[in-house]
Amino acid sequence: MAGSVLIVDDESVVIRSCERILAPEGYSVQGASSAREALEVMEKEEFDIVITDLKMPEMDGIELIRRIREKSPSTGIVVITGYPSQDSIKDALELGIIDYLPKPFSPQLLVDITEKAVAAVKATLGKERPAEEGDVEAKLKEINEVIESYRTKPGALIPVLQKVQGILGYLPPTVQRIIAKGLNLPVSEVHAVVSFYSFFTMKPKGKHNVRVCLGTACYVKRAAEILQKIKETLGIEEEEGITKDRKFSLETVRCLGACGLAPVVVVDHDIYGSVDPVKVPETLKQYG
Ligand code: FES
Repeated sequence: MAGSVLIVDDESVVIRSCERILAPEGYSVQGASSAREALEVMEKEEFDIVITDLKMPEMDGIELIRRIREKSPSTGIVVITGYPSQDSIKDALELGIIDYLPKPFSPQLLVDITEKAVAAVKATLGKERPAEEGDVEAKLKEINEVIESYRTKPGALIPVLQKVQGILGYLPPTVQRIIAKGLNLPVSEVHAVVSFYSFFTMKPKGKHNVRVCLGTACYVKRAAEILQKIKETLGIEEEEGITKDRKFSLETVRCLGACGLAPVVVVDHDIYGSVDPVKVPETLKQYG
């Protein structure tokens, strides 16, 4: 089983479609049509992640997140929102959500976010790859020096994350825990900030970094085909990964803010718009 997911939404059609998309991917999926029902289900069963709507009658998503945080702090939370206003997302982020899904979302986006959220929960529980721990160990002294130099300063988290990413190249869960402990913050808060800002990454980067946009505007213009072609060309099996020689790394993003150019791929700082999957090998060759 890829992971267990509870979907909370007062629209049954949302629950059904999430089930239809996630079950074939190997997830065990259950639905709850209200926050109250979700809490009842969670009394009897544990879930890796909860994907919840924010706007619901009786008890809203923010209150539900608050209660889950108290009862089951290790459960990952993803928010579905048709109103991604700064305020609602800010409240949710402060409560330590992993990510959010803007309505309407594509099946691919749901799968990607679910996969990332379940991976984040498992990593936070101490199941991340040892290779990452090796990278962190080698730079631990420098990382601790950065934390120490910011420990008493207000608003230290973002500058510390930037500096540590500068040292290590990425911010795996191991290092997020070290930073959280050093700055006396909850791990969930550190993780939420790293997930929210696109300039932070949890994966190591190659000499050249390829970002493929899977946001809705790009997705409907063959972004999945482009991603597949890039994976084949670079020999990277996962959706996000790095070549053995560390020359190329691949990551997927949800919107690069250039929807008018869809489908969009960015290699290092070079933006490619209206990308034709057939021309992908030729484009990547320039960086070889
Ligand atoms: S959806 Fe791809 S750039 Fe906006």
